[in-house]
Amino acid sequence: MARSKSSNQWLQEHFNDSYVKKSQQDGLRSRASYKLIELGKKDRLFRAGQCVVDLGSAPGGWSQVAARSVGDQGRVVASDILSMDAIAGVEFIQGDFTEEKVFEQLLSCLADGGADLVISDMAPNLSGIADIDQPQAMYLVELALDMAFKVLKPGGGFVCKVFQGEGFDGLLRQCRSTFSKVMVRKPDASRARSKEMYFVAKGYRGEH
Ligand SMILES: C[S@@+](CC[C@H](N)C(=O)[O-])C[C@H]1O[C@@H](n2cnc3c(N)ncnc32)[C@H](O)[C@@H]1O
Repeated sequence: MARSKSSNQWLQEHFNDSYVKKSQQDGLRSRASYKLIELGKKDRLFRAGQCVVDLGSAPGGWSQVAARSVGDQGRVVASDILSMDAIAGVEFIQGDFTEEKVFEQLLSCLADGGADLVISDMAPNLSGIADIDQPQAMYLVELALDMAFKVLKPGGGFVCKVFQGEGFDGLLRQCRSTFSKVMVRKPDASRARSKEMYFVAKGYRGEH
């Protein structure tokens, strides 16, 4: 089947993209990796030995960055609705995060000690229709935050992709009431025309 003009344009943009080239050179699975590398450096997110939960992990760029950052003594538990090729030091659970059984599977995997950091780059397949996309995206963010509340150790961190639009400000308020510091970031590797932003929340105040 012939490719449409817009998909050709996307492919061209993708292959010309300097982050795509760099990810191939650095052995990283996605250009998204550089978003987490930048956030990690700016907000000093990682330490050796941490336990990190990576939601919406496929194809695995963030998991690679997390595994390299926490080292052999650390732990990375990743999950996605899609399959993901194995990464050394990363445990993977495949399933739809909106399903209770997947949520519960992750919880039981972390029952022993909890997590230092929950990171979520989850995003639904975007239709381009804001009234459909935004509620779906916000639902995934709310579930990720719920997981963070359940598994984070006191003082833990939460990083999450959030699209600008309905629900954004409310979610920011909610994060600010439960973490001691919350930053809103737009990493360089995030395309300017995308409405995606990242919340970086540190110092979880809840009990675990
Ligand atoms: C932007 S990609 C993540 C890229 C990843 N951070 C990386 O660096 O390779 C978003 C991911 O969210 C996942 N996702 C979307 N809806 C999901 C759901 N309901 N449950 C689990 N994963 C979901 C998609 O399958 C996709 O792999």
